[in-house]
Amino acid sequence: SVKKVNCHNQFPLSILILMFKVQISGTGLFTPKEKISNEELVDSYNKYVDEYNASNSKEINNGSLEPLEKSSAEFIEKASGVKSRYVQNKSGILDTSFMRPRLNERSEDQISNLAEMGVIAAKEAIKNSQIDIKEIDAVIVACSNLERAYPAIAIEIQNELGIEGFAFDMNVACSSATFGIQTIFDMIKSGSIKSALMVNPEICTGHLNFKDRDCHFIFGDVATAVVLERMSEDIHKNNSYEILGTKLLTEFSNNIRNNYGFLNSSSPEGVGKADKLFHQNGRKVFKEVIPKVSNLIKDHLEENKLAAEDLKGMYLHQANENMNVLISKYVLGKEASRDLAPVVLDEYANTSSAGSIIAFHKHNKSLKKDELAIICSFGAGYSVGNVIVKKIA
Ligand code: COA
Repeated sequence: SVKKVNCHNQFPLSILILMFKVQISGTGLFTPKEKISNEELVDSYNKYVDEYNASNSKEINNGSLEPLEKSSAEFIEKASGVKSRYVQNKSGILDTSFMRPRLNERSEDQISNLAEMGVIAAKEAIKNSQIDIKEIDAVIVACSNLERAYPAIAIEIQNELGIEGFAFDMNVACSSATFGIQTIFDMIKSGSIKSALMVNPEICTGHLNFKDRDCHFIFGDVATAVVLERMSEDIHKNNSYEILGTKLLTEFSNNIRNNYGFLNSSSPEGVGKADKLFHQNGRKVFKEVIPKVSNLIKDHLEENKLAAEDLKGMYLHQANENMNVLISKYVLGKEASRDLAPVVLDEYANTSSAGSIIAFHKHNKSLKKDELAIICSFGAGYSVGNVIVKKIA
């Protein structure tokens, strides 16, 4: 659309502001081949508990050390809704002497782990969007954890796919994808680019503490990708979605934190400590984040003169099913059906930035032309991001 704006206050002459419409024209998903059920994960954790308690029996018996308690598959499903997760390496995670994904060190001539999975998701998104690779102007990798300091994973993906233009990485933890969408939305809207690819490679098991009973079940691995383009008024791509608006919020909190970083080795006393992995105060996160997300969605709909009842899809961040039930209740005034607010965390667990994109990718076919939906994420920061979309075709 073209808006003519008279800026008499600032400028003597009226200026013409071009504002382009933006569409999501394709999405893609890479799902790892290996999968771990709650039962398998709990068996391994409980074996670790037996081994830990046996090897520390003296300290436990004299009261100087607390014994570890066992985990339970029933608790995990009831507290979170998670039943299983896909992982890049199962054997290392379940091996009680290792308890993390075992990934071979790659040489500088080989593609990195994140770029490899990102490229697979990206190729599907590009195919689904029917865009010519030559027409993609930018690549953004938006995810929670980057494999190295530099060069950017996005530039590696750009190179693998033969995309011209520019690329960069960004990290807003679980909200990286919606923040990435807003970043690209603004660039396309203003005309600085015509199209971009966003990729969300998440090897969440690499920063998960599999020795921590409170959170060892939370995460899984996956990669998603989204192609965004300037919208054409007359050519409508199959399964495409106009972005009507985006709204972001951040507010500092220590309740989800990971202190891993490039300065760790400068403080050797802290290297290898549990705070260098994901840790959280799950109860507080649950309580504090629900109202922030619900209010942001409600405000965003109101600003766009939309009602909650207008929504035919709520593709929410996939961290905890009980949380999503409460958010949809606050927004809608009643519980959302699984058709309206699809759940993928039962199968995938929390996949950080990718969760709401997986839900959108797998379930958007049920939307009809002109129907409205939201893609909403929330997590560490705190951070919340909401995107309102309308199905074009
Ligand atoms: N197996 C069995 N019992 C467990 C357990 C496990 N793996 N982990 C904790 N428990 C026990 C606790 O010891 C506690 O026992 P108590 O009542 O005797 O003290 C009880 O279960 C409740 O623990 P709590 O930590 O309060 O559980 P919860 O109901 O809050 O559920 C989460 C935990 C993490 C699933 C939940 O808080 C959550 O999902 N929060 C939101 C997190 C989130 O979205 N984070 C964003 C990440 S990016």
